[in-house]
Amino acid sequence: MSITKLENNIFVLETKNTHYVMGIDKNGINRHIYWGSKISSNDYELDTNGDENSNHSAMDSYRQEITFFGGTVYRECAVKAEFSDKCRELEIAYKDYKISENTLCVTMADKHYPLEIDLCYEVYDDSDIIKRWITVRNIGGDEIIFDKLLSAEFSFPSEKPYKFRNTNGAWGAEFIECESTVEGGYSVWESHKGASNHNASPYFIAYQNADENGGDVYFGSLAYSGNFKVSAGRDLFGVTRVMLGMNDFDFSHTLRANEQFDTPAVYCGYTQGFGEMSRQMNRFAINHILPKSFNNKVLPVLYNSWEATEFHVSASQQLELARIAADIGVELFVMDDGWFGQRKDDHAGLGDWYVNPDKFPNGLNELIDGINELGMDFGIWFEPEMVNPDSDLYREHPDWAYHYDTRSAKELRNQLVLNMTKPEVQEYVFGFMDELVSNHNIKYIKWDMNRPFSEIGAENLENRKMYSYLHTKAVYDICDRLKAKHTDLQIEACASGGGRAELGALSHFDQVWTSDNTDAIDRMTIQSGFSMLRPIKAMRAWVTDINWYNKPTSLDFRFNIAMQGSLGIGGELRKYSDEDKKICKRNIELYKRIRDLVQLGDLYRVYNSDKDEFLMNMYVSEDKSRAVAFIAARGTRFFKKKFNMRFAGLDEDKTYRFSLDGKEHTKSGAYLMKLGIPYRIIGNNFNKIIEIEEV
Ligand code: DGJ
Repeated sequence: MSITKLENNIFVLETKNTHYVMGIDKNGINRHIYWGSKISSNDYELDTNGDENSNHSAMDSYRQEITFFGGTVYRECAVKAEFSDKCRELEIAYKDYKISENTLCVTMADKHYPLEIDLCYEVYDDSDIIKRWITVRNIGGDEIIFDKLLSAEFSFPSEKPYKFRNTNGAWGAEFIECESTVEGGYSVWESHKGASNHNASPYFIAYQNADENGGDVYFGSLAYSGNFKVSAGRDLFGVTRVMLGMNDFDFSHTLRANEQFDTPAVYCGYTQGFGEMSRQMNRFAINHILPKSFNNKVLPVLYNSWEATEFHVSASQQLELARIAADIGVELFVMDDGWFGQRKDDHAGLGDWYVNPDKFPNGLNELIDGINELGMDFGIWFEPEMVNPDSDLYREHPDWAYHYDTRSAKELRNQLVLNMTKPEVQEYVFGFMDELVSNHNIKYIKWDMNRPFSEIGAENLENRKMYSYLHTKAVYDICDRLKAKHTDLQIEACASGGGRAELGALSHFDQVWTSDNTDAIDRMTIQSGFSMLRPIKAMRAWVTDINWYNKPTSLDFRFNIAMQGSLGIGGELRKYSDEDKKICKRNIELYKRIRDLVQLGDLYRVYNSDKDEFLMNMYVSEDKSRAVAFIAARGTRFFKKKFNMRFAGLDEDKTYRFSLDGKEHTKSGAYLMKLGIPYRIIGNNFNKIIEIEEV
């Protein structure tokens, strides 16, 4: 992979399969030239057409890497600032560039004011993903205030409209995919909630004539867990542009003398088909995004007590669950909400992170030792950023919660958000987590966050509109500090389910809680949406007793779905029959055999439960010597579904062996992928897991 500067101030970023090309024109303006599969001649040129009339400015028609507010730019811009003399115009031109190893930095500077802006790009030897961000630098003495500071802008080659995929979700319905075509005007996917929310995803997927296996697919994912904005627009000339970064709707950043600021990164790529997009991002996240301590290790099978016991935890009852969990093969036992302060329900206790003496009269070690003796690790739940007004913490430090003295702070789930931008709050939060982990054998933290922000008065900040960034950064920093000190500690990000589950969170947390909706039928849709641009191993998936539809799915069916992520168990195991426990044991054993394929392999989405009536996903090892296929259908209509079960992702030239319904098959990869095995799906709760091995 390389970065080349051509003679005419054109920069070519080369990845394994793609070129990304930008250049500087004779006026010093940054211009986008090309993004797509490699063009071997490499003789890129700038578009010199600059037609302008009284109402169409040339500037407005350019494809740019970053568009600055000012002059005759009337369309959406990516950066907007005000100088100390109140001038709100940016006049930015090329100054210099620097290529160091795999990074390109093109420095632009204002013609009059002491502002420099670096357009930064990084390429990787093992991937087609490109990292983009910008750095703004104040090289003068006066403050510069930014009203808008996005991370990246993209323009696509075709003038025909692009379709976009994002998610339109909610609590319990995260990652539900939605599609739209942007023909004109703008489409926006964003968060105003302070964190990255359940509703939309901080990414774009723009495509033409694409499906899982082919067609032009452009994508970019913002690594940021605060308020974000993705906007896509198409102009009269047919140019489709996308911008993404920190949301400007309630934003402002002050850059003081000699300060610089890096925007959150965007990871972007071009592939043929959605399948390759997801595989590229999955592998990239494993290699370059997830925290290094567990990125390429398989995650343990966990048990979580929430759905079984909710707030009513005690040492004896958790140990009772733990004995069964250990017996069926669980490796990590996580006690959820309810163990601390005066926590009986969600009205009290958040903020008071001492072990509740009534529930644990002998402290936590009695439970932890018991769990360790059963051969499992122990994990525990926190909700560090929150406080219940009914807590000692709030009574002592009411000013630690975001508030305005003249407004009443609205409670959601009876709680308020702590102002994590305050250093003393950060120290408090780090302190209680560090203390508990230091004094107990705790290997796992579930870091929950159960409400969005409101009344965000942060009197400690000079520029309060930076709260979302600073709060987010504080969360990341505490996570990093904990991990640096406790190197074998895994941390899971939870925000009422999947409310903070993007590449920003995943740069600091090892995994996320995907959704409080653990119904296996709904999970098929939720998990499919998750798999688009998020790493599979980070997706915690539990087998529980939830059945939203009052038509219970079988235990095997629930395992089939939950095994397609990092498996967890969340049911009330004390009510499981011996037969149920046998089913759990058998499935957990199977999962342990194939989890490296699911968590670290390549996913091929063959059939989609919503579109095709049944689901078929394959996970294939990187060397294509092993694979596992999951098939599941809640119940097919019209009595049956016949199809040729064609596998995907195998090596055509290898021979594979597998057993299906008691029959052994040995076939070439080509046979299995082109012709397949005739198969029939019949009945309710249909589920099948096929382990495939190279002969
Ligand atoms: C919301 C989470 O999503 C649940 O899994 C559980 O941890 C509860 N919070 C506990 O209050």
